[in-house]
Amino acid sequence: MSALDKALTINELMAIAKRRVPKQFFDYADSGSWTEGTYRANSEDFSQIKLRQRVAVNMEGRTLATTICGEQASMPVALAPTGFTGMQSADGEIKAARAAEKFGVPFTLSTMSICSIEDVAENTGKPFWFQLYMMRDRGFIERLIDRAKAAKCSALVLTMDLQILGQRHKDLRNGMSAPPKFTPRFVFEMARKPQWAMQMLGTKRHTFRNIVGHVDAAGDLSKLSAWTASQFDPALSWKEIAWVKERFGGPVIVKGILDPEDARQAVAHGADGIIVSNHGGRQLDGAPSSIRVLPEIVDAVGNSTDVYVDGGIRSGQDVLKAMALGAKGTFIGRAFLWGLGAGGEAGVTRALEIIRRELDITMALCGERDIKAVGLHNIYSIDLPPRNSPLGANG
Ligand SMILES: Cc1cc2nc3c(=O)[nH]c(=O)nc-3n(C[C@H](O)[C@H](O)[C@H](O)COP(=O)(O)O)c2cc1C
Repeated sequence: MSALDKALTINELMAIAKRRVPKQFFDYADSGSWTEGTYRANSEDFSQIKLRQRVAVNMEGRTLATTICGEQASMPVALAPTGFTGMQSADGEIKAARAAEKFGVPFTLSTMSICSIEDVAENTGKPFWFQLYMMRDRGFIERLIDRAKAAKCSALVLTMDLQILGQRHKDLRNGMSAPPKFTPRFVFEMARKPQWAMQMLGTKRHTFRNIVGHVDAAGDLSKLSAWTASQFDPALSWKEIAWVKERFGGPVIVKGILDPEDARQAVAHGADGIIVSNHGGRQLDGAPSSIRVLPEIVDAVGNSTDVYVDGGIRSGQDVLKAMALGAKGTFIGRAFLWGLGAGGEAGVTRALEIIRRELDITMALCGERDIKAVGLHNIYSIDLPPRNSPLGANG
């Protein structure tokens, strides 16, 4: 039995990934901004929520199936957009998209992916979702949206919380880049991680293929990082949602909402769904965990749009808790990235299997047979202090 088959938890996948992935890329995923307080709170806060056990309820015929953004999903879990995924494992975005497709859950490709929209489309059979960062170069963004349309992406995820980069100390110290710089330290790492290195040598996909070759100013690698750094648009406003929607012509989900007032704004400006998210604790350190703010955001806009959540989900129990607090579905980032680093496509499948089994058994022990019926009645207690605002409960 391989280490992958033996892994029973997402944390065990993380331990395997740590052995197999070069430090700078493992650290890139396992990091938050500044003190990493929000990164930690995202998962710790889930453990403050206790579930209500029920017995003598017929548990036969259970179903986890649901719809996410109007599409069938075998469980209420989607793969979140993550940059540099093709550095956790060669061709990582293709591997993750294939695993998601076979499992019947949505995959979201990041703007900052290594494999391009076209790479993923050529290597998968079903439409996937594309995540968009608004950049100053609107011509590039128009072409990017058109490319997502041409590749039949069925939804756009518009990320609103990264117009300026939260500082992550590990990345600065490691000198993170794609492709990696061949420093003596990195060559040493390659020697210690031969499987990763061999697979990486076997692919041509080593840099941001959604960008390189698609903008003159980032035509070669030396210009790419300067171009990217200058591109995140600090003047982004709510008006952009309508512009993106019109250009794309399909559903646009707004990601990075952490406040009820922002949730109302997103809905008022046409969002077809929102993702409650603090970017996995990678942006505003000191912001509350996603699960903590979920109930007040569901309260504010839950009747007018679908509310999804990501941040800190490491088990099927976490998924159930999010659903009980009103989410229509969840997104996972590191949970699938660690699976990918641990074992490529099979590792992503393993991560999804772990979550599915935990979710199914938890749902049964809570006395539910249908994930869509899960709600506040499945929660026993929440040991998280309420929002403390001099402005009142909803700001
Ligand atoms: C390594 C990494 C890269 C990420 N890159 C992106 C990105 O390119 N675009 C984006 O919208 N969010 C990005 N995110 C945020 C994720 O989409 C998601 O919000 C977060 O990972 C959820 O938290 P979790 O990792 O604890 O599940 C990234 C997260 C990680 C961990």
